[in-house]
Amino acid sequence: MKYFIETYGCQMNVHDSERMAGLLESSGYEPAAGDADADLVVINTCSVREKAEEKLHSRLGHIKGMGRATGHFPVVAVAGCVAQQEGSRLLERSNVIDLVVGTQRLKMLPMLAAQARVQRQQDVSTATRALAAIVDVSTPYDEPSFPLGLARHADAVKAYVTIIEGCNDYCAFCVVPYTRGHERMRAKAEILADVRAAVESGRREVQLLGQIVNHYQAPDDPHCDFAGLLEAVNNVAGVQRIRFASPHPRHASARLIAAVRDLPAVCKHIHLPVQSGSTPVLQRMRRRHTREHYLDLVAKIRADIPNIQLSTDIIIGFPGESEAEYQETLSLVDAVRFSCIFSFKYSVRPNTLASKKMPDDVVADDKTRRIREIQLLQRRIQLELHEAMVGHRVEVLVDARSQRRDWEVSGRTTGNTVVNFPGHADWVGRFVEVAIRRAGPYSLWGEVV
Ligand code: SAH
Ligand code: F3S
Repeated sequence: MKYFIETYGCQMNVHDSERMAGLLESSGYEPAAGDADADLVVINTCSVREKAEEKLHSRLGHIKGMGRATGHFPVVAVAGCVAQQEGSRLLERSNVIDLVVGTQRLKMLPMLAAQARVQRQQDVSTATRALAAIVDVSTPYDEPSFPLGLARHADAVKAYVTIIEGCNDYCAFCVVPYTRGHERMRAKAEILADVRAAVESGRREVQLLGQIVNHYQAPDDPHCDFAGLLEAVNNVAGVQRIRFASPHPRHASARLIAAVRDLPAVCKHIHLPVQSGSTPVLQRMRRRHTREHYLDLVAKIRADIPNIQLSTDIIIGFPGESEAEYQETLSLVDAVRFSCIFSFKYSVRPNTLASKKMPDDVVADDKTRRIREIQLLQRRIQLELHEAMVGHRVEVLVDARSQRRDWEVSGRTTGNTVVNFPGHADWVGRFVEVAIRRAGPYSLWGEVV
């Protein structure tokens, strides 16, 4: 039996796919190259923004087309946030889907897939197609542990390690608390065991994942908060780089800043989602931080940690965003000079506070103009930041060979900047020193010294 998993969305989803791959392989499946040779296709969906959700439907259409053209009908499973959100409605809407598995029920995938295969031999109606218990937000969730060593790390250099599942913050725009449930902390002992296993398998870098990572409090160690966890991971022999996504500005303590500054393995990069530069918009978003608080925090971080790189997430056109409020976001981006931003046009998400109470009233043309303007400003800033690096030397962890040129490899600096340079495929996983020769808005080019 062969499986193929297609993943949309965030690192958390990428890691869930690694976990599902591990579960399937331990029950006898092998990886397939694509739909055409797969007995089981898993679509791991994302519903954080409207566009992300549309992809599921075009993907299902493609599988249906393949079936008609070639007579190959793999068992189709839908997992991830759309699965959690839509549940049985998906089975009703599409006869291509055999089973739906919610975000808290990944461990049931092999069993459900086996069940679906049996059903395939019989009459398959919506009523009999498998539906993994879609957990209602009002009922207790699975506890967040996962068997040690089972996840199949897709990346040769870095390993994702989940530290927190779910979120209790209910930002007005965000579907995550509804699709991933309430916040649950993983035991520190289990996290460290995962980190050790990752290092033993040759991974150099560990990425700690959670919706609000800096909210971490170890359930098995009352003295261990997120800064404490960073220290514990830093002390695992063989861990050479630690990244984390994402902290919330509200919980960015002096202890956290000191940990990033002082722990040698912790990368000098913080992804700190701001969402908007306007305090009234942040209030309507229920973000619980203000523009001033964010700018103060940035100043503190920059004063404490030399060469720290900051990146962020921004939503354009949140309900009621006036031209003046949008200009505040633009001016914040201009002032902070992030190394990278992820900007999104606001879209209404089911169940959220904004969907119930705040009409999506910023017209599409304004959203488009505003996001273009922000992205253009950011592109200029990135080009300036990158050009300032030309002539300098940086340490790079090689993480991939180039897709386009077989004599080229790429890697990242501690600040998360992508650097391309001539090199061999077997350098992947090594640290090298690179002299920067050329800069573009999205990456740097150089030569190994
Ligand atoms: N807590 C997570 C956020 C998950 S959602 C983290 O810190 O990484 C990822 C990003 O998607 C958010 O930071 C936000 O910028 C964007 N986003 C979430 N909901 C959105 C919506 N309804 N419309 C547009 N962008 C949204
Ligand atoms: Fe979403 Fe806000 Fe939590 S962005 S994941 S509700 S911190």
